[in-house]
Amino acid sequence: MGKTEVEFGGQRAKEIAMSGPGPKSMSGPVKGIPIAVVGGGFVGLVTAAGFAQFGHAVVCIENNEERLKKLQSGHVPFYERDLEKLISENLHNGRLSFTNDLEAAVDGQKAIFIAVGTPSAADGRADLGALGTIAESLASVLTSDQVIVIKSTVPVGTGKSIQAVFSENGHSKNPIAVVNAPEFLREGNAVQDFFHPHRIVLGGTSTEAVELVKHIYRLGMTDPVPIITTNNETAELIKYSSNAFLAMKIGFINELAGLCDSTGIDVLEVARAMGMDGRIGPEFLDPGPGWGGSCFRKDLSELTGLASSLDHTLLIARAVLSANEQHHRYVVEKARKLIGSLDGATIGVLGLAFKANTSDMRDSPAIPIINELLDAGAKVQAYDPQAMEEARSIIPNVSCVDSAIDVAAEADCLLILTEWQEFQMLDLSKMAKMMATPNIVDTRNLLVPEVAKRHGFNYVSMGQA
Ligand code: UDX
Repeated sequence: MGKTEVEFGGQRAKEIAMSGPGPKSMSGPVKGIPIAVVGGGFVGLVTAAGFAQFGHAVVCIENNEERLKKLQSGHVPFYERDLEKLISENLHNGRLSFTNDLEAAVDGQKAIFIAVGTPSAADGRADLGALGTIAESLASVLTSDQVIVIKSTVPVGTGKSIQAVFSENGHSKNPIAVVNAPEFLREGNAVQDFFHPHRIVLGGTSTEAVELVKHIYRLGMTDPVPIITTNNETAELIKYSSNAFLAMKIGFINELAGLCDSTGIDVLEVARAMGMDGRIGPEFLDPGPGWGGSCFRKDLSELTGLASSLDHTLLIARAVLSANEQHHRYVVEKARKLIGSLDGATIGVLGLAFKANTSDMRDSPAIPIINELLDAGAKVQAYDPQAMEEARSIIPNVSCVDSAIDVAAEADCLLILTEWQEFQMLDLSKMAKMMATPNIVDTRNLLVPEVAKRHGFNYVSMGQA
């Protein structure tokens, strides 16, 4: 594929009324094509269930026995809104199945989507071990009419090197087509994002293979979505650049929140006016305790690592990482200013997941913030509606309590770190009375300052002065 082209999918908008996050589940025979999805993680499961909902026949390969058993009984081994319903619906109508037998599963599949993790290695670069192992296993069973689609976030050049793995393993005469189709799903919103993407990015040199992937999406697309077709490397860089930019945008508003704290200006008013500029856009301008999640840091590290390997320095991308760490320290400083000294203080933390509507604590801002509080000699008691199980192994020195109100017991300061909706319905006057001193740092600006103050709190926001 030479130049980057854009066209619109969504041929069926008039045919399928939208009922919830995706198209109506169509009963009856499969209208689509046979697809395999390798990897039963967050991206793999949403992709497999989404394509089954479109009408394709999908087999998802998961090699972890325990996870596989859960999936085969229609249960998702983590919390993700709407996903379990989507999976059990398509298990029931026979368009989705799970197995651990990779070689048998890919036999006869037109497209094989690879959605395995590419975590950061010790040097910050992406670890492609899992991807390489799968490519080698596939090389011995693939036929040249099958298409490999890399959905995992992979470094620039990976598509080409996977193609080389196939050529070196018996496919030199009839090369296997490899298409990059990076995903842009947000945790907690993944099913919605799958059915209503901002755009679909497809990178590949085989026009036929790219057309096949377009067809796979078009079958169920209900909105006219831009489909960008380009080469493998461009698609790979689009993914890293998009995540780096999103993290930068959040980091910028977090820094601005700090400045607004010192100037008495309301950062949300600034953000709202900024967002009205079409070149800026309103999304991802909500200040918080710092961005987290399994992707931003990983992708920024890979991007800056790629640049360094080519003797480039991405000063801004590097600053996004260091500014985020500085922002965690800024949150701790807010609590210290409210109570004087952290040593011997009791801090009640509300929210541990890296954001609401997920149980995921990967790279959550709660982790460095709590560790800094503990290092300063504070005692920390914490509650999260979904992340308690994960928290016990990640922050063992924190006392995990059973409800939001319990974090107030004898506390000197409350810290709201995750924007769970239930934290907007807290019994604030009861909590204020349970505390040693009724201080609260609301890093997500969840509460109405006047209401919190009326219930007796010394209330500190994030940028609303
Ligand atoms: C991100 C990208 O959004 C997604 O496109 C990509 O596929 C994976 O990485 P995710 O990590 O699931 O998705 O969550 P996201 O909603 O982007 O939030 C990331 C972090 O930024 C969270 O800690 C969130 O609380 C924070 N955030 C987000 C803000 O602090 N302010 C905002 O306005 C938005």
